[in-house]
Amino acid sequence: MGNHDAVQQDFQCRLRSIPPQGMGLSVDVYSPDLFELIAQLKERGLKPNYLEVFKATTTALTAVRQALPDLALAYHGEGLWITQPDVQGSPFFQRDVGEMVAQLNCIQSLWLNHECAMKQLAGYSFGTYVPPLYTMLSAEVVAANIATVQQAMDRQGARADGTAPLFILELPPLTYFSAGRITIPYFFRLVTDLVPCGLVLDIGHLWTVYRYTAASRRMSLEQFVREFLDEFPLERVVEIHVAGLACHESAGEAELGTEPPAWLDGHAAPIPSVLFTMLEQVLAHQNLVSLRAVALEVDTKPIETIVEEYAEAVRRFDFAVQRTMAKGMGAERMDRMLPSGPTQAVVSQSARQQLRDDYGLYAKIISGQVPVTGPDWQEAAEDQTGLTSYRTSYLPYEILHWGGDLSEMFPQTCRLLGARGVDLGEFVAFWFRAPRPLTESYDFFLLKVERFIEFVAEVAPEALACVEEESAVLRQAYAETNEVVGPVMERGSA
Ligand SMILES: [Fe+2]
Repeated sequence: MGNHDAVQQDFQCRLRSIPPQGMGLSVDVYSPDLFELIAQLKERGLKPNYLEVFKATTTALTAVRQALPDLALAYHGEGLWITQPDVQGSPFFQRDVGEMVAQLNCIQSLWLNHECAMKQLAGYSFGTYVPPLYTMLSAEVVAANIATVQQAMDRQGARADGTAPLFILELPPLTYFSAGRITIPYFFRLVTDLVPCGLVLDIGHLWTVYRYTAASRRMSLEQFVREFLDEFPLERVVEIHVAGLACHESAGEAELGTEPPAWLDGHAAPIPSVLFTMLEQVLAHQNLVSLRAVALEVDTKPIETIVEEYAEAVRRFDFAVQRTMAKGMGAERMDRMLPSGPTQAVVSQSARQQLRDDYGLYAKIISGQVPVTGPDWQEAAEDQTGLTSYRTSYLPYEILHWGGDLSEMFPQTCRLLGARGVDLGEFVAFWFRAPRPLTESYDFFLLKVERFIEFVAEVAPEALACVEEESAVLRQAYAETNEVVGPVMERGSA
């Protein structure tokens, strides 16, 4: 990989092809109804400067592009597990990257935003994002994978003037726990030293970093934000996200009534005022020199709430956002050099294998199969409250209810299992018992169906015909829905 200065210059060059966008919304094309939302904003005299849309079918994205010809669109990707050491060896990686570039082109997005997180690791699958291991090796692998995706965008996404969309990497949320040996801001510093990507600073995600690391026991939120921003490569932040926070529907006694509250990232939830206070602090920081856009992430939120929150955010922050963006534009040199292209990163086979093993242990620890152990888990071992919440509340809820409730999906089979005395909770242990080679691009719903058939075959073979019949109906309905509205993907925390 190139040296620090060359990487920095390459980034500057790429950034120049992104004009300031201002304040906008990050949405999903299905929910809430996008055109209704735009109409209601218009009634209040509001028009977002851009819309960041979440991955959908190319047909659905094309329809949005055609229906809103004078609105800038940007792309929020999903499903490229760039944190994983073996992702490039996956049989679907090339195809997934190709599809993503086609979608970027279709909506003329200036960037690809992707979470620095994954839902599949070392052969284990999850319904919502888990954060990367915060280690040096993990940062090197993330940088190498981003370089590969950026190269594909440079090749297949180049515009007439030779520029291409920019990879921007989002700070992911913590869901009760964090693991690793280096600080989170330093991790992003390592990544940006190696690859010319931009960053997305999600203010709600940053709040969860405070809440679920030792920081919340040691210092005030304001001090945490100050120290974090001083270490984080803030000069690479191209976009800021602000979304809701709420206690999760799976939260039990251990998670309710804590101080600070045990909130998680939640796009349907209202934005708490503490996030706007943090946003003020971020916008005032002198190192924020590459900012191009600020979006409220509002997918799955009621339209009335979106309109109220957006009106309030524009009233409060539009001037500060304009001023911050202008500061960045003035600081740029005006040469017309084209980006040199990220050099292919080299991470040795043995290093990748090491990280794969680390992620194998990671999956076993967070799913509760093995005790908290090893150098990446020292902080988590000191106070296991968060990990316990994840293992005993959040994760079982995800496997049993989220993205498809098993007793609603398989009513007959669940009755048969009940009569036989099988507790559905056993399915969680079954799900995480062993890693499995991936045979399809990630789809949590279809995976749930497949694994449930296997589970029933093992614990109640006499119910096999029943579960297969119910599965056939589910798969058929799912395929039909997808033909009409595109993959019904749940964003989870993004
Ligand atoms: Fe976000």
